[in-house]
Amino acid sequence: TVADMKGLKQGQLRLAVITTAKYVVPRLLGPFCQRYPGIDVSLKVTNHERVMERMAANLDDLYIVSQPPEHLDIQSHAFVENPLVVLAPPNHPLADAKHISLEQLAGEPFIMREPGSGTRKVVQELFDRYEIPIKVKLEIGSNEAIKQAIAGGLGISVLSLHSLNLEGNNGQFSILNVEHFPILRHWYVVHPSGKQLSVVARTFFDYLQAEGRQIADLKNALEWSAELAHFAQ
Ligand code: PGA
Repeated sequence: TVADMKGLKQGQLRLAVITTAKYVVPRLLGPFCQRYPGIDVSLKVTNHERVMERMAANLDDLYIVSQPPEHLDIQSHAFVENPLVVLAPPNHPLADAKHISLEQLAGEPFIMREPGSGTRKVVQELFDRYEIPIKVKLEIGSNEAIKQAIAGGLGISVLSLHSLNLEGNNGQFSILNVEHFPILRHWYVVHPSGKQLSVVARTFFDYLQAEGRQIADLKNALEWSAELAHFAQ
């Protein structure tokens, strides 16, 4: 019976995810744990480099990153979009500007994530590619602290759009219309190819594949189209 099948899915699911995924993964775990009450979860939230180290040390069952390693033999599946946007306080002089160039941001005080962060890497690579310097005013190892620093007027930053979702935007931030943004990335669920997944881990992998996008986007779809509407022109 179905009940017996569910009963078989017992044990621990160990996940390690990048910091931006913490805004969505707990929401995905809710329905999953309801469906499989015998599964307990441990969730480690850290930056890209630390997640990669954990994978190299085989500490967890599954990993969620937005830049799957290219040099390793892995299985990966993209399950949700993860757009990165430029956030500024609502009273910022560029808040209503269209088609802001990267050069225009060169003089702006910038709030940057810590070394090891995948977000930081992508931002740095973009500015390096166009040889635009970034004036780093503040370096912080937390998306939440960065949001507070932006709100406090310390500068602008690049964050995942998901980082706005807990409390919604509520006019706290403006998303600047900057060329090359939003940077369109995805979250991938990843594991080394050689690793034999437990029944529990396989179940979650399949669940993300089948339903991850739907659940994560249910709330986001509407908000995102509103947030990103001004990129359309
Ligand atoms: P981070 O990861 O938490 O290391 O910045 C986010 C990402 O790589 O998209």
